[in-house]
Amino acid sequence: MERELVIVLDFGGQYNQLIARRVRECNVYCEVKPYTMSLDEIKKMNPKGIIFTGGPNSVYDEASPHYEKAIFEAGIPILGICYGSQLMAYTLGGEVKTAPVSEYGHTEVTVDTTDALFEGVSEKTVCWMSHTDYIAQAPEGFKVTASTPVCPVAAMACPEKKFYATQFHPEVMHTKEGMQMLRNFVINICGCRGDWQMGSFVDETIKALREKIGDGKVLCALSGGVDSSVAAVLLSKAIGKQLTCVFVDHGLLRKNEGDEVEAVFGPDGSYELNFIRVNAQQRYYDKLKGVEEPEAKRKIIGEEFIRVFEEEAKKIGAVDYLVQGTIYPDVIESGLGKSATIKSHHNVGGLPDVVDFKEIIEPLRMLFKDEVRKAGLELGIPEYLVYRQPFPGPGLGIRIIGEVTEEKVKIVQEADYIYREEIAKAGLDKGLGQYFAGLTNMRSVGVMGDFRTYDYAIALRAVNTSDFMTAEASEIPYEVLFKVTNRIINEVKGVNRVMYDLTSKPPGTIEFE
Ligand code: XMP
Repeated sequence: MERELVIVLDFGGQYNQLIARRVRECNVYCEVKPYTMSLDEIKKMNPKGIIFTGGPNSVYDEASPHYEKAIFEAGIPILGICYGSQLMAYTLGGEVKTAPVSEYGHTEVTVDTTDALFEGVSEKTVCWMSHTDYIAQAPEGFKVTASTPVCPVAAMACPEKKFYATQFHPEVMHTKEGMQMLRNFVINICGCRGDWQMGSFVDETIKALREKIGDGKVLCALSGGVDSSVAAVLLSKAIGKQLTCVFVDHGLLRKNEGDEVEAVFGPDGSYELNFIRVNAQQRYYDKLKGVEEPEAKRKIIGEEFIRVFEEEAKKIGAVDYLVQGTIYPDVIESGLGKSATIKSHHNVGGLPDVVDFKEIIEPLRMLFKDEVRKAGLELGIPEYLVYRQPFPGPGLGIRIIGEVTEEKVKIVQEADYIYREEIAKAGLDKGLGQYFAGLTNMRSVGVMGDFRTYDYAIALRAVNTSDFMTAEASEIPYEVLFKVTNRIINEVKGVNRVMYDLTSKPPGTIEFE
């Protein structure tokens, strides 16, 4: 059976990938395409529906993105959102104006529940608005299907042609019944079966990678994190031993992590690939000796990673492709989908300069983190790896204040291990954002048995965050904190004090450096 596709046509809005993701949540495959894609190309893809995104422009700006009118004659259902709705109105002869009152934020909208887009939606429903222009007059053949006191055409529809438009954003979670609207569009209006699963993405990606790579050689820098692991497994399933993964153990990983990565990807693991583990621990400790300043440490760790990798790459020789586990949040869109600049992942940034390759492959580029996790589970990657905490490229190097030494690394590894174990035992592991132990550079006096101690203080950190730009300290139950504290003091040599960091970001940062 042919795979059904809905295309999100990108007019520069900030929620484009989110729309695509919501459609995929309706079990319909969806991809974002730039508005510069020709109608012929779109038709060739045979989409069941098209969604025009929002965008920062006014349809009257000369430079604003438009689309040829013929798209409305292609017989494909179209949903216009925000700017996309205004573009639909404007192109089809309606009237778009600067609204006398801009609307921004949660807005109660009255909808016509007999309209197909609003089937099953409450008559008064809270939606997310963000606009300065609005549709003053719907085009001929359209009926107005929603309004607010200041927005006469909050939604419009031409059911015969299956054209729908909303001034508000159904894709954002603030629009309470937005998912129902999107489901109505893709399932009821476009007539999709809704039988797509992440498993199909995995199968199709493997097939496409196989076709693209042929008998070429591929190199992957494996960090053991979720993204590079999922990317590596996809490649391994596609091309087996044509893939070489290089895993650099810099001695700044969490307890047992290096061995865990090797157990999964190494010769005794579950995948067919060439696995190279570089045990560079001592090299890093030597370089970091006496260095206290956090940026200096980061620089050394980053540069050393490149050097180690360069040496390995030289041994391997030229390859055809370099794989990166870039995921959507790492991709900074140019705004109009014409070109995208990639925020290089700290783990692999700089690698393209030292590897002799033809092209970069980024199989996870369009996925959000939780979709990557789903793909990982589909691929049979162990759960503990799929749900692994985000871990910075420079590793424990930025969770130790002051000089990094092997002794300090051991201390923080043990403390962090206990902390994570107790959090998991308390059933808090999937609910918390990011949590870890850091080592302060503070030593203080304590008493243990009949002896005086003069040891380090561990700082426990746990934050809730949705974007990692802002974060709040998590409320961990006291009994869990007590248990962790007791265990760390009793089990980790060199620690006599444990503290809990309550600082938010800003003014703090999440990491402890
Ligand atoms: P901060 O400490 O800046 O951290 O509040 C925000 C998020 O970014 C992660 N982080 C990094 N991730 N390489 C990475 O791959 C890095 O160099 C790096 N520094 C910070 C941090 O773990 C948190 O999730």
